[in-house]
Amino acid sequence: GPAPDPHRPRVHFTPESTWMNDPNGLVLHEGRWHLFFQNNPLGSTPGNLSWGHAVSDDLASWTHLPVALRFSEEEWIFSGSVVHDAENRSGLGIPGDGGPLLAFYTSAYTPAHPTLPSIQAQSVAASTDGGTTWTRFSGNPVLDRGSRDFRDPKVLWHAESARWVMVTVEAEEYELHLYTSEDLLTWEHASVFTHPEIDGGIWECPDLVHVRTGTEAEGAGASAWVLVLSTNPGGPAGGSGTYTLLGDFDGRTFTTHSSPQPLDLGQDCYAAVSFSGVQGDPVLLGWMNNWAYAAQTPTAPWRSAMTLPRTLQLEADGAGDPVLVQRLVVPDGTRTVTLEEVAGGPPLDLAQPLRLHGVLPARSPWRLTLRFGDPEGDLDLVLSGDPTSGVVLDRGAAHEAPFAVEHPRSLPYVPAGGDDEVIVDLVVDRSCVEVELDRGRGTISQQVFHGTWQMSVLLQLDD
Ligand code: FRU
Repeated sequence: GPAPDPHRPRVHFTPESTWMNDPNGLVLHEGRWHLFFQNNPLGSTPGNLSWGHAVSDDLASWTHLPVALRFSEEEWIFSGSVVHDAENRSGLGIPGDGGPLLAFYTSAYTPAHPTLPSIQAQSVAASTDGGTTWTRFSGNPVLDRGSRDFRDPKVLWHAESARWVMVTVEAEEYELHLYTSEDLLTWEHASVFTHPEIDGGIWECPDLVHVRTGTEAEGAGASAWVLVLSTNPGGPAGGSGTYTLLGDFDGRTFTTHSSPQPLDLGQDCYAAVSFSGVQGDPVLLGWMNNWAYAAQTPTAPWRSAMTLPRTLQLEADGAGDPVLVQRLVVPDGTRTVTLEEVAGGPPLDLAQPLRLHGVLPARSPWRLTLRFGDPEGDLDLVLSGDPTSGVVLDRGAAHEAPFAVEHPRSLPYVPAGGDDEVIVDLVVDRSCVEVELDRGRGTISQQVFHGTWQMSVLLQLDD
Protein backbone atom coordinates (compact mmCIF):
# COMPACT_ATOMS: atom_id res chain seq x y z
CA GLY A 1 0.00 0.00 0.00
CA PRO A 2 0.92 3.69 -0.05
CA ALA A 3 3.44 5.00 2.48
CA PRO A 4 1.76 6.00 5.75
CA ASP A 5 0.90 9.69 5.61
CA PRO A 6 1.45 11.56 8.90
CA HIS A 7 -0.69 14.47 7.65
CA ARG A 8 -3.76 12.54 6.50
CA PRO A 9 -6.49 12.71 9.17
CA ARG A 10 -8.63 9.64 9.93
CA VAL A 11 -12.00 11.11 10.94
CA HIS A 12 -11.79 14.46 9.21
CA PHE A 13 -12.91 14.03 5.61
CA THR A 14 -10.22 14.36 2.93
CA PRO A 15 -10.38 13.87 -0.85
CA GLU A 16 -8.59 10.75 -2.06
CA SER A 17 -5.93 12.32 -4.27
CA THR A 18 -7.01 15.77 -5.48
CA TRP A 19 -7.84 19.35 -4.48
CA MET A 20 -10.86 20.18 -2.30
CA ASN A 21 -12.44 23.39 -1.07
CA ASP A 22 -15.94 24.20 0.18
CA PRO A 23 -18.44 21.61 1.40
CA ASN A 24 -21.40 21.54 -0.97
CA GLY A 25 -24.81 19.86 -1.08
CA LEU A 26 -24.71 18.60 2.50
CA VAL A 27 -27.82 16.47 2.95
CA LEU A 28 -29.05 13.62 5.15
CA HIS A 29 -31.21 11.48 2.88
CA GLU A 30 -32.67 8.04 3.64
CA GLY A 31 -30.27 7.65 6.56
CA ARG A 32 -27.12 8.50 4.58
CA TRP A 33 -25.06 11.64 4.97
CA HIS A 34 -24.00 13.06 1.60
CA LEU A 35 -20.99 15.33 1.37
CA PHE A 36 -20.31 16.99 -1.96
CA PHE A 37 -17.36 19.30 -2.22
CA GLN A 38 -15.59 21.77 -4.47
CA ASN A 39 -13.07 19.61 -6.28
CA ASN A 40 -10.50 19.78 -9.04
CA PRO A 41 -10.78 16.25 -10.44
CA LEU A 42 -7.54 16.79 -12.35
CA GLY A 43 -5.13 18.11 -9.75
CA SER A 44 -4.01 19.27 -6.32
CA THR A 45 -4.55 23.01 -6.80
CA PRO A 46 -7.75 25.03 -7.29
CA GLY A 47 -9.24 24.84 -10.79
CA ASN A 48 -11.63 22.88 -13.04
CA LEU A 49 -14.18 23.18 -10.26
CA SER A 50 -16.61 20.31 -9.99
CA TRP A 51 -18.62 18.61 -7.24
CA GLY A 52 -16.82 15.65 -5.68
CA HIS A 53 -18.99 13.28 -3.64
CA ALA A 54 -18.78 11.00 -0.62
CA VAL A 55 -21.32 9.31 1.66
CA SER A 56 -21.31 8.19 5.27
CA ASP A 57 -23.57 6.34 7.70
CA ASP A 58 -22.01 7.86 10.82
CA LEU A 59 -20.41 11.21 9.82
CA ALA A 60 -17.01 9.65 10.61
CA SER A 61 -16.07 7.17 7.89
CA TRP A 62 -16.71 8.23 4.32
CA THR A 63 -17.01 6.28 1.08
CA HIS A 64 -15.76 8.12 -1.99
CA LEU A 65 -18.09 8.20 -5.00
CA PRO A 66 -17.50 9.44 -8.55
CA VAL A 67 -17.55 13.17 -9.28
CA ALA A 68 -21.23 14.16 -9.26
CA LEU A 69 -21.16 17.32 -11.38
CA ARG A 70 -18.18 17.82 -13.65
CA PHE A 71 -16.76 21.04 -15.06
CA SER A 72 -16.63 21.68 -18.79
CA GLU A 73 -14.73 24.11 -20.96
CA GLU A 74 -17.67 26.52 -20.74
CA GLU A 75 -18.89 26.03 -17.18
CA TRP A 76 -17.29 25.43 -13.79
CA ILE A 77 -19.53 24.09 -11.01
CA PHE A 78 -19.23 26.37 -7.99
CA SER A 79 -20.65 25.93 -4.49
CA GLY A 80 -24.26 25.22 -3.61
CA SER A 81 -26.67 22.97 -1.77
CA VAL A 82 -28.94 19.93 -2.09
CA VAL A 83 -32.51 19.50 -0.85
CA HIS A 84 -35.06 16.71 -1.08
CA ASP A 85 -38.04 17.80 -3.19
CA ALA A 86 -40.23 15.23 -1.43
CA GLU A 87 -43.44 16.36 -3.15
CA ASN A 88 -41.83 16.57 -6.57
CA ARG A 89 -42.90 20.20 -6.87
CA SER A 90 -40.18 20.71 -9.46
CA GLY A 91 -41.56 17.93 -11.62
CA LEU A 92 -37.97 16.70 -12.07
CA GLY A 93 -38.65 13.46 -10.17
CA ILE A 94 -40.32 10.24 -11.21
CA PRO A 95 -44.05 10.51 -10.34
CA GLY A 96 -44.91 8.43 -7.26
CA ASP A 97 -41.26 7.76 -6.48
CA GLY A 98 -40.56 9.78 -3.33
CA GLY A 99 -39.34 12.93 -5.05
CA PRO A 100 -35.94 13.84 -6.45
CA LEU A 101 -32.90 15.28 -4.75
CA LEU A 102 -32.18 18.68 -6.27
CA ALA A 103 -28.75 20.25 -6.40
CA PHE A 104 -28.51 24.04 -6.60
CA TYR A 105 -25.10 25.18 -7.76
CA THR A 106 -23.48 28.19 -9.30
CA SER A 107 -22.78 27.91 -12.99
CA ALA A 108 -19.52 29.85 -13.20
CA TYR A 109 -19.50 30.29 -16.97
CA THR A 110 -16.02 30.65 -18.43
CA PRO A 111 -15.07 33.30 -20.99
CA ALA A 112 -15.58 30.52 -23.56
CA HIS A 113 -19.34 30.31 -22.91
CA PRO A 114 -21.22 31.41 -26.05
CA THR A 115 -24.07 33.42 -24.46
CA LEU A 116 -23.13 34.10 -20.80
CA PRO A 117 -19.35 34.55 -20.84
CA SER A 118 -17.89 35.09 -17.32
CA ILE A 119 -21.36 35.26 -15.75
CA GLN A 120 -22.23 33.50 -12.50
CA ALA A 121 -25.83 32.26 -12.27
CA GLN A 122 -27.74 29.60 -10.34
CA SER A 123 -28.54 26.22 -11.86
CA VAL A 124 -30.30 23.00 -10.89
CA ALA A 125 -29.55 19.30 -11.32
CA ALA A 126 -31.78 16.42 -10.24
CA SER A 127 -31.09 12.93 -8.96
CA THR A 128 -33.72 10.19 -8.94
CA ASP A 129 -31.36 7.50 -7.63
CA GLY A 130 -30.71 8.88 -4.15
CA GLY A 131 -27.83 11.16 -5.14
CA THR A 132 -25.61 8.83 -7.17
CA THR A 133 -26.20 10.28 -10.64
CA TRP A 134 -27.32 13.77 -11.59
CA THR A 135 -29.09 15.26 -14.60
CA ARG A 136 -28.84 18.96 -15.28
CA PHE A 137 -32.13 20.80 -15.75
CA SER A 138 -32.76 21.80 -19.36
CA GLY A 139 -33.86 25.31 -18.34
CA ASN A 140 -30.55 26.27 -16.66
CA PRO A 141 -29.62 28.73 -15.38
CA VAL A 142 -32.77 29.24 -13.30
CA LEU A 143 -31.57 32.53 -11.79
CA ASP A 144 -29.37 35.02 -13.64
CA ARG A 145 -28.77 38.65 -12.65
CA GLY A 146 -26.18 39.29 -15.32
CA SER A 147 -23.58 39.40 -12.54
CA ARG A 148 -20.03 38.01 -12.47
CA ASP A 149 -20.07 37.41 -8.70
CA PHE A 150 -23.54 36.03 -7.89
CA ARG A 151 -23.15 32.67 -6.22
CA ASP A 152 -23.35 29.98 -3.54
CA PRO A 153 -27.11 29.19 -3.44
CA LYS A 154 -28.20 27.63 -0.12
CA VAL A 155 -31.77 26.36 -0.31
CA LEU A 156 -33.90 25.69 2.77
CA TRP A 157 -37.54 25.06 3.60
CA HIS A 158 -39.28 27.75 5.65
CA ALA A 159 -42.22 26.01 7.32
CA GLU A 160 -44.23 29.02 8.52
CA SER A 161 -44.45 30.59 5.08
CA ALA A 162 -44.51 27.19 3.36
CA ARG A 163 -41.92 28.35 0.83
CA TRP A 164 -38.48 27.32 -0.29
CA VAL A 165 -35.88 29.99 0.32
CA MET A 166 -32.61 30.49 -1.55
CA VAL A 167 -29.86 32.50 0.14
CA THR A 168 -27.16 33.78 -2.22
CA VAL A 169 -24.40 36.38 -2.26
CA GLU A 170 -23.41 39.21 -4.50
CA ALA A 171 -19.85 38.56 -3.36
CA GLU A 172 -18.17 41.83 -4.35
CA GLU A 173 -21.12 43.98 -3.26
CA TYR A 174 -21.15 42.51 0.27
CA GLU A 175 -24.85 41.69 -0.15
CA LEU A 176 -27.05 38.72 0.55
CA HIS A 177 -29.90 38.22 -1.89
CA LEU A 178 -32.80 36.09 -0.72
CA TYR A 179 -35.32 34.47 -3.06
CA THR A 180 -38.43 32.37 -2.48
CA SER A 181 -40.07 29.65 -4.53
CA GLU A 182 -42.88 27.12 -4.49
CA ASP A 183 -41.60 24.86 -7.26
CA LEU A 184 -37.82 25.19 -6.73
CA LEU A 185 -37.38 26.30 -10.35
CA THR A 186 -38.92 29.79 -10.44
CA TRP A 187 -37.41 32.14 -7.90
CA GLU A 188 -38.82 35.46 -6.77
CA HIS A 189 -36.55 38.10 -5.23
CA ALA A 190 -37.52 38.64 -1.56
CA SER A 191 -34.90 40.86 0.12
CA VAL A 192 -31.34 42.16 0.30
CA PHE A 193 -29.30 41.98 3.51
CA THR A 194 -26.15 43.96 4.25
CA HIS A 195 -24.14 44.46 7.43
CA PRO A 196 -21.72 47.35 7.89
CA GLU A 197 -19.49 45.40 10.31
CA ILE A 198 -18.69 42.61 7.84
CA ASP A 199 -16.64 44.59 5.36
CA GLY A 200 -13.18 43.02 5.25
CA GLY A 201 -13.57 40.89 2.14
CA ILE A 202 -15.94 39.36 -0.36
CA TRP A 203 -19.00 37.54 0.98
CA GLU A 204 -19.29 33.84 0.22
CA CYS A 205 -21.22 30.69 1.13
CA PRO A 206 -24.14 32.01 3.24
CA ASP A 207 -26.52 29.82 5.24
CA LEU A 208 -29.54 30.49 7.43
CA VAL A 209 -29.89 27.99 10.25
CA HIS A 210 -32.68 27.66 12.79
CA VAL A 211 -31.28 26.92 16.26
CA ARG A 212 -33.08 26.12 19.51
CA THR A 213 -32.39 25.95 23.22
CA GLY A 214 -32.73 22.67 25.11
CA THR A 215 -33.31 19.19 23.79
CA GLU A 216 -36.30 17.94 21.88
CA ALA A 217 -37.35 16.00 24.97
CA GLU A 218 -37.42 19.18 27.05
CA GLY A 219 -39.93 20.68 24.64
CA ALA A 220 -39.74 23.83 22.58
CA GLY A 221 -37.50 26.47 24.15
CA ALA A 222 -36.30 29.72 22.65
CA SER A 223 -35.18 29.73 19.05
CA ALA A 224 -33.32 32.04 16.70
CA TRP A 225 -32.04 32.12 13.16
CA VAL A 226 -28.33 32.23 12.62
CA LEU A 227 -26.83 33.72 9.50
CA VAL A 228 -23.56 31.92 8.79
CA LEU A 229 -21.42 33.94 6.39
CA SER A 230 -17.88 33.50 5.13
CA THR A 231 -15.58 36.34 4.05
CA ASN A 232 -12.29 36.32 2.19
CA PRO A 233 -10.18 38.01 3.46
CA GLY A 234 -11.43 39.75 6.61
CA GLY A 235 -12.05 36.49 8.47
CA PRO A 236 -12.16 36.79 12.27
CA ALA A 237 -8.74 35.16 12.82
CA GLY A 238 -7.09 36.42 9.62
CA GLY A 239 -7.30 35.37 5.99
CA SER A 240 -10.65 33.80 5.10
CA GLY A 241 -13.10 32.91 7.85
CA THR A 242 -16.69 32.55 8.94
CA TYR A 243 -18.97 34.81 10.96
CA THR A 244 -22.33 34.22 12.61
CA LEU A 245 -25.13 36.67 13.28
CA LEU A 246 -28.10 35.83 15.51
CA GLY A 247 -31.42 37.22 14.36
CA ASP A 248 -34.92 36.60 13.05
CA PHE A 249 -36.15 35.36 9.73
CA ASP A 250 -39.76 35.62 8.56
CA GLY A 251 -39.29 33.67 5.35
CA ARG A 252 -38.39 36.74 3.30
CA THR A 253 -36.17 39.03 5.36
CA PHE A 254 -33.39 38.35 7.88
CA THR A 255 -33.04 40.96 10.62
CA THR A 256 -30.45 41.24 13.35
CA HIS A 257 -29.49 43.65 16.11
CA SER A 258 -26.33 41.85 17.11
CA SER A 259 -22.70 42.12 16.13
CA PRO A 260 -20.99 39.44 14.09
CA GLN A 261 -19.28 36.71 16.11
CA PRO A 262 -16.63 34.34 14.83
CA LEU A 263 -17.99 30.87 14.08
CA ASP A 264 -14.55 29.53 14.98
CA LEU A 265 -11.61 31.12 16.78
CA GLY A 266 -8.99 29.41 14.61
CA GLN A 267 -7.94 30.09 11.03
CA ASP A 268 -9.19 26.87 9.50
CA CYS A 269 -12.96 26.91 9.21
CA TYR A 270 -14.34 28.38 5.98
CA ALA A 271 -17.48 28.11 3.88
CA ALA A 272 -19.25 26.31 6.73
CA VAL A 273 -22.82 25.30 5.94
CA SER A 274 -25.44 23.00 7.45
CA PHE A 275 -26.88 19.68 6.34
CA SER A 276 -30.35 19.69 4.86
CA GLY A 277 -32.80 16.98 5.95
CA VAL A 278 -31.77 16.93 9.64
CA GLN A 279 -34.67 16.77 12.13
CA GLY A 280 -33.05 17.73 15.46
CA ASP A 281 -30.24 20.20 16.11
CA PRO A 282 -28.60 21.51 12.93
CA VAL A 283 -25.33 19.86 11.89
CA LEU A 284 -22.74 22.01 10.14
CA LEU A 285 -19.21 21.56 8.85
CA GLY A 286 -16.65 23.76 7.13
CA TRP A 287 -13.60 23.56 4.92
CA MET A 288 -10.68 23.16 7.34
CA ASN A 289 -8.39 25.49 5.45
CA ASN A 290 -7.80 29.14 4.66
CA TRP A 291 -7.50 30.83 1.27
CA ALA A 292 -4.46 32.71 2.66
CA TYR A 293 -2.37 29.52 2.30
CA ALA A 294 -4.64 26.72 1.07
CA ALA A 295 -2.67 26.04 -2.08
CA GLN A 296 0.58 25.70 -0.07
CA THR A 297 -0.38 23.10 2.52
CA PRO A 298 2.33 20.42 2.50
CA THR A 299 0.19 17.41 1.58
CA ALA A 300 0.20 15.41 -1.62
CA PRO A 301 -1.53 14.49 -3.79
CA TRP A 302 -4.67 15.21 -1.71
CA ARG A 303 -5.20 18.71 -0.38
CA SER A 304 -7.53 19.98 2.38
CA ALA A 305 -9.77 18.44 4.99
CA MET A 306 -13.22 19.27 6.30
CA THR A 307 -13.74 20.21 9.95
CA LEU A 308 -15.51 17.72 12.18
CA PRO A 309 -19.27 18.16 11.97
CA ARG A 310 -20.70 20.31 14.74
CA THR A 311 -24.20 20.36 16.18
CA LEU A 312 -25.61 23.82 16.80
CA GLN A 313 -27.70 24.95 19.73
CA LEU A 314 -28.71 28.12 21.46
CA GLU A 315 -27.84 28.72 25.11
CA ALA A 316 -28.22 31.63 27.50
CA ASP A 317 -24.93 33.18 28.59
CA GLY A 318 -24.19 34.55 32.08
CA ALA A 319 -26.22 37.69 31.36
CA GLY A 320 -29.13 35.69 29.94
CA ASP A 321 -28.37 36.65 26.35
CA PRO A 322 -28.58 33.97 23.67
CA VAL A 323 -25.29 32.54 22.41
CA LEU A 324 -24.55 29.93 19.80
CA VAL A 325 -22.89 26.73 20.99
CA GLN A 326 -21.25 24.19 18.73
CA ARG A 327 -20.50 20.66 19.88
CA LEU A 328 -17.90 18.78 17.87
CA VAL A 329 -19.26 15.46 16.60
CA VAL A 330 -16.38 13.24 17.73
CA PRO A 331 -16.86 9.70 16.44
CA ASP A 332 -17.79 6.97 18.91
CA GLY A 333 -14.76 4.92 19.82
CA THR A 334 -12.32 7.83 19.55
CA ARG A 335 -9.59 7.21 22.12
CA THR A 336 -10.17 9.68 24.94
CA VAL A 337 -7.60 10.41 27.63
CA THR A 338 -7.65 12.89 30.49
CA LEU A 339 -4.95 15.42 31.24
CA GLU A 340 -4.48 13.83 34.66
CA GLU A 341 -3.71 10.50 33.00
CA VAL A 342 -1.27 11.67 30.36
CA ALA A 343 0.37 14.96 31.39
CA GLY A 344 4.07 14.33 32.00
CA GLY A 345 3.73 10.70 30.89
CA PRO A 346 5.13 8.78 27.91
CA PRO A 347 4.32 9.91 24.34
CA LEU A 348 0.91 9.08 22.88
CA ASP A 349 0.44 7.37 19.51
CA LEU A 350 -1.03 9.62 16.80
CA ALA A 351 -1.83 6.95 14.22
CA GLN A 352 -5.43 7.04 15.43
CA PRO A 353 -7.31 10.18 16.49
CA LEU A 354 -7.07 11.18 20.10
CA ARG A 355 -9.26 13.32 22.33
CA LEU A 356 -7.71 15.01 25.32
CA HIS A 357 -10.10 16.06 28.07
CA GLY A 358 -9.28 18.36 30.93
CA VAL A 359 -10.66 20.98 33.28
CA LEU A 360 -8.34 23.93 33.75
CA PRO A 361 -8.45 27.06 35.87
CA ALA A 362 -10.13 30.18 34.53
CA ARG A 363 -8.63 32.47 37.18
CA SER A 364 -4.94 31.62 36.98
CA PRO A 365 -2.53 31.09 34.10
CA TRP A 366 -1.70 27.67 32.67
CA ARG A 367 0.10 26.26 29.69
CA LEU A 368 -0.65 22.97 27.96
CA THR A 369 2.11 21.93 25.55
CA LEU A 370 1.58 19.22 22.98
CA ARG A 371 5.06 18.22 21.87
CA PHE A 372 5.09 16.37 18.57
CA GLY A 373 7.71 13.77 17.70
CA ASP A 374 10.83 13.71 19.87
CA PRO A 375 9.88 14.25 23.54
CA GLU A 376 13.12 16.22 23.90
CA GLY A 377 12.37 18.28 20.78
CA ASP A 378 10.68 21.63 20.31
CA LEU A 379 7.83 20.96 17.87
CA ASP A 380 5.27 22.47 20.24
CA LEU A 381 1.60 23.27 19.90
CA VAL A 382 0.59 25.34 22.90
CA LEU A 383 -2.84 25.92 24.38
CA SER A 384 -2.56 28.50 27.11
CA GLY A 385 -4.99 30.15 29.48
CA ASP A 386 -4.75 33.47 31.22
CA PRO A 387 -7.45 35.23 33.26
CA THR A 388 -7.06 38.49 31.37
CA SER A 389 -6.29 37.40 27.83
CA GLY A 390 -8.26 34.14 27.63
CA VAL A 391 -7.48 30.75 26.08
CA VAL A 392 -5.33 30.77 22.93
CA LEU A 393 -4.04 28.01 20.66
CA ASP A 394 -0.59 28.79 19.24
CA ARG A 395 0.75 26.64 16.40
CA GLY A 396 3.68 28.94 15.61
CA ALA A 397 6.34 26.39 16.64
CA ALA A 398 4.43 23.21 15.79
CA HIS A 399 5.25 22.64 12.12
CA GLU A 400 8.09 20.54 10.69
CA ALA A 401 8.67 23.28 8.06
CA PRO A 402 7.56 26.93 8.33
CA PHE A 403 3.83 27.13 7.70
CA ALA A 404 1.22 29.89 7.99
CA VAL A 405 3.82 32.06 9.70
CA GLU A 406 1.51 35.08 9.50
CA HIS A 407 -1.30 33.19 11.23
CA PRO A 408 0.19 31.40 14.24
CA ARG A 409 -2.40 32.07 16.96
CA SER A 410 -6.12 31.64 17.36
CA LEU A 411 -8.36 34.37 18.66
CA PRO A 412 -8.77 34.13 22.44
CA TYR A 413 -11.67 32.34 24.07
CA VAL A 414 -12.78 34.26 27.15
CA PRO A 415 -14.73 32.17 29.68
CA ALA A 416 -17.92 33.67 31.13
CA GLY A 417 -17.33 36.09 34.00
CA GLY A 418 -18.29 33.93 36.96
CA ASP A 419 -16.57 30.76 35.80
CA ASP A 420 -13.74 29.24 37.87
CA GLU A 421 -12.85 26.62 35.30
CA VAL A 422 -12.64 26.10 31.59
CA ILE A 423 -13.45 22.71 30.11
CA VAL A 424 -11.11 21.64 27.32
CA ASP A 425 -11.75 18.87 24.78
CA LEU A 426 -8.98 18.77 22.23
CA VAL A 427 -8.99 16.43 19.22
CA VAL A 428 -5.72 15.62 17.47
CA ASP A 429 -6.34 13.85 14.17
CA ARG A 430 -2.84 14.00 12.64
CA SER A 431 -2.74 17.44 10.89
CA CYS A 432 -6.23 18.43 12.05
CA VAL A 433 -6.50 19.88 15.56
CA GLU A 434 -9.82 21.06 16.93
CA VAL A 435 -10.56 22.35 20.41
CA GLU A 436 -13.99 22.54 22.00
CA LEU A 437 -14.07 24.87 25.00
CA ASP A 438 -16.70 24.90 27.73
CA ARG A 439 -18.84 22.33 25.94
CA GLY A 440 -19.11 24.30 22.75
CA ARG A 441 -19.06 27.95 23.84
CA GLY A 442 -15.85 28.25 21.83
CA THR A 443 -14.18 26.16 19.14
CA ILE A 444 -10.75 26.43 17.55
CA SER A 445 -9.81 24.68 14.30
CA GLN A 446 -6.22 24.73 13.16
CA GLN A 447 -4.13 22.68 10.81
CA VAL A 448 -0.78 21.67 12.24
CA PHE A 449 1.73 20.03 9.92
CA HIS A 450 4.00 18.44 12.49
CA GLY A 451 4.52 15.33 10.36
CA THR A 452 5.08 13.03 13.35
CA TRP A 453 3.50 9.94 14.86
CA GLN A 454 3.64 10.69 18.55
CA MET A 455 2.89 13.46 20.99
CA SER A 456 3.92 14.19 24.57
CA VAL A 457 1.67 16.21 26.86
CA LEU A 458 3.16 18.73 29.30
CA LEU A 459 1.05 20.80 31.66
CA GLN A 460 2.24 23.79 33.64
CA LEU A 461 -0.14 25.13 36.24
CA ASP A 462 0.61 28.32 38.07
CA ASP A 463 -0.54 27.73 41.64
C1 FRU B 1 -15.56 29.95 -1.47
C2 FRU B 1 -15.74 30.00 -2.99
C3 FRU B 1 -17.19 30.14 -3.36
C4 FRU B 1 -17.22 29.57 -4.75
C5 FRU B 1 -16.21 28.46 -4.64
C6 FRU B 1 -15.40 28.22 -5.88
O1 FRU B 1 -14.41 29.31 -1.06
O2 FRU B 1 -14.95 31.04 -3.52
O3 FRU B 1 -17.69 31.45 -3.29
O4 FRU B 1 -18.50 29.11 -5.09
O5 FRU B 1 -15.34 28.78 -3.60
O6 FRU B 1 -14.57 27.11 -5.72
